[in-house]
Amino acid sequence: LDYEVILLAAGQGKRMGASRNKILLHLIGKPVISYSLKTFLNDPACQHIILVTQADEQDLLAAMIKKEIKKKRCPITLVSGGSERQYSVFNGLSALFDLENIVMVHDGARPFVNLAQLKALHRKVQETRAAILGVPVKDTIKRVVEGIVQETVPRETLWQIQTPQAFYGADLLAVHECAQRQGYLGTDDASLIEKYSNLSVSMVLGSYENIKLTTPEDMLIGEAIVKRKRS
Ligand code: CTP
Ligand code: MG
Repeated sequence: LDYEVILLAAGQGKRMGASRNKILLHLIGKPVISYSLKTFLNDPACQHIILVTQADEQDLLAAMIKKEIKKKRCPITLVSGGSERQYSVFNGLSALFDLENIVMVHDGARPFVNLAQLKALHRKVQETRAAILGVPVKDTIKRVVEGIVQETVPRETLWQIQTPQAFYGADLLAVHECAQRQGYLGTDDASLIEKYSNLSVSMVLGSYENIKLTTPEDMLIGEAIVKRKRS
């Protein structure tokens, strides 16, 4: 069973503080978005890439794809995003070939997801209908209110959640429609599944390398990760 992926690139990258959308910034000579795009293109199970972009960046991205992608192993559809990440996912869902397909949702700002992780996630979603990547929290986490520590949260059960996240198209569309109706904004797709469906979301162990490029320091870490992968 193949899957389709919604690859998100329609943000503004405000926290990166650059003059353009962070997914277009160059990381060791290549645009950030091209890394994950190539990883999905290299996965034989990926049958459709839905690239969600800002409307006025579509030409730029189409040109980038032409330049960076030598062989398009599966179709790439460009879709316009919304003002919030969740709306961008929702717009992406409208381009699915088939709601019975598995759909992965991935942040274009996470260049370092690898094929092994895609495989593990794909296997798990076929078993359990909902699966996400993440890693156990390494830091001590405390709850703080108005500058005062309230408690130390036991860390054993805490995970940092990443993307891709994998579901069946119909399940994901249904919970997005519920959230839309109630004006609810979640921070990831799994949170909508948790809130509006009876499905259990399975955790798949990812890698600490699968970072999201958010602030300028992350670009330095990203460069180090690319260099290590190449050596
Ligand atoms: N994203 C999107 N549509 C939005 C907002 C975000 O497609 N309306 C995408 C971003 O392009 C990114 C991913 O969702 O790949 C994760 O979001 P985030 O890291 O918050 O990116 P930005 O929203 O671009 O950054 P910032 O919040 O700093 O402005
Ligand atoms: Mg954002």
